[in-house]
Amino acid sequence: MVKSLLIKNGLLVTAVDKYEADVYTEGEQIHTIGKNLNFNADEIIDAKNCYLFPGGIDPHTHMELPFMGTCASDTFETGTIAGLYGGTTTIIDFAIQTQGKSLKSAIDEWHRKADGNAVCDYAFHMGVTDFNKNTQKEIKEICEKDGISSFKIFMAYKGALMIDDRQIIGLMKEAGKYGGMVISHCENGDMIDELVSEAKLKGNLSPVYHYLTRPEIAEAEATGRIIDMAYQGSHPLYIVHMTCEAALNRVREATKRNQKVNAETCIQYLLLDESLYESPGFEGAKWIMSPPLRKEKDRAALWSGIAQNLVHTVATDHCPFCMDQKRMGISDFSKIPNGIPGIEHRLELLFSEGVLKEKISLNKFVELTSTQAAKIFGMFPKKGTIAAGADADIVIFDPNIKHTLSAKTHHHKCDYSAFEGWQVQGKCKTVILRGTIAIDNAQALIKKGFGKYIKRSQYNKEYKKEKELTGAIS
Ligand code: URP
Ligand code: ZN
Ligand code: ZN
Repeated sequence: MVKSLLIKNGLLVTAVDKYEADVYTEGEQIHTIGKNLNFNADEIIDAKNCYLFPGGIDPHTHMELPFMGTCASDTFETGTIAGLYGGTTTIIDFAIQTQGKSLKSAIDEWHRKADGNAVCDYAFHMGVTDFNKNTQKEIKEICEKDGISSFKIFMAYKGALMIDDRQIIGLMKEAGKYGGMVISHCENGDMIDELVSEAKLKGNLSPVYHYLTRPEIAEAEATGRIIDMAYQGSHPLYIVHMTCEAALNRVREATKRNQKVNAETCIQYLLLDESLYESPGFEGAKWIMSPPLRKEKDRAALWSGIAQNLVHTVATDHCPFCMDQKRMGISDFSKIPNGIPGIEHRLELLFSEGVLKEKISLNKFVELTSTQAAKIFGMFPKKGTIAAGADADIVIFDPNIKHTLSAKTHHHKCDYSAFEGWQVQGKCKTVILRGTIAIDNAQALIKKGFGKYIKRSQYNKEYKKEKELTGAIS
């Protein structure tokens, strides 16, 4: 294991800076940043003509998620290796409660899956699928001892994951007491269930009906509703995987009353569209996810939302299922497991399609891929930046290497790629995790169990300060 590294001649990029510098790391942390550093390091890396980005943080992944009668195909080992190849050094996965069981039992289960297996660093969001008198009592300890300060709720997936508004409000209140924040999958579950039943009655069973039964309005309605619930109680809020113009407009509306809403989109919603559901035969199943891919105008709106600081993070919602799993819904779209692979390609796609096509700046790229997630989810400045004292999580990124994404070459444990054949420019050449070279020239150098569990601090600490300064509500 390397004890010290000297990275020479890179162009260091953070959310606010861009300058040529050498970086010296000692043990797990960044020690010194400066020009012409002359440390006696164990290893020297020449990063000439490369960017140095903070290690990516993917705030939305589902490794080994039991879901819709099957289980997401990437384990914490395979999924985090794939993430590292693509410059992601930390993930936040969802420990999702089984209805009827305690929250703690889900946390224990997720630790059993991840501890000793994850290769990159990892934290958890708490997925609350049943908020009642018993689970209410668990919230304090989860925030204060388990280092989990975000509580995910589902406004869809009725009968399995969805909770009602009364429960959401109760959870917002309880989490708020201990510095926690509710984060939400926003789709109106009842509206969707009705549309799905109607489609099935009419014999409309092919993959495109997944898209047609989960309309934009169902997402916008739920987004607006939860924003109002947060506003009413002055609670913070984070919207996961926002996909469309109408939902974005609910976030925009909230700013007019000085409400701050944190919003995430995913790389697929920025780059792919609904036409994929019209692919021949059962092909469209590859992109079955919830919410579904949207229209060109929604992609344009999301890019604008990024430019207007209404969208703060770009995640993946990595939740892969192989084609034999997707085929569980060959004769009924509602049985196709929802989710796609993507963790490996987030940074390279966003760089190639966002930075090189001049939709976002380099600083914005860093903000979206790591800094904002670290700040919102209580890991900054240990994670999410390149600074003395921070964890030495660094991506040495060559902006000139061109390559093609394919299931033949990706590291996802999934037999198809959602971005098959996409040509990208820019590659994560060397990836450093806590001062150790994890990936170098397409070779993984660390093994299962290298990843550490990250306890996160409470959201409200920073947020309360901000609220005092700005006078902003919620
Ligand atoms: O289709 C999706 N997004 N699958 C994963 C579960 C979720 O809703 O995030
Ligand atoms: Zn979701
Ligand atoms: Zn998800």
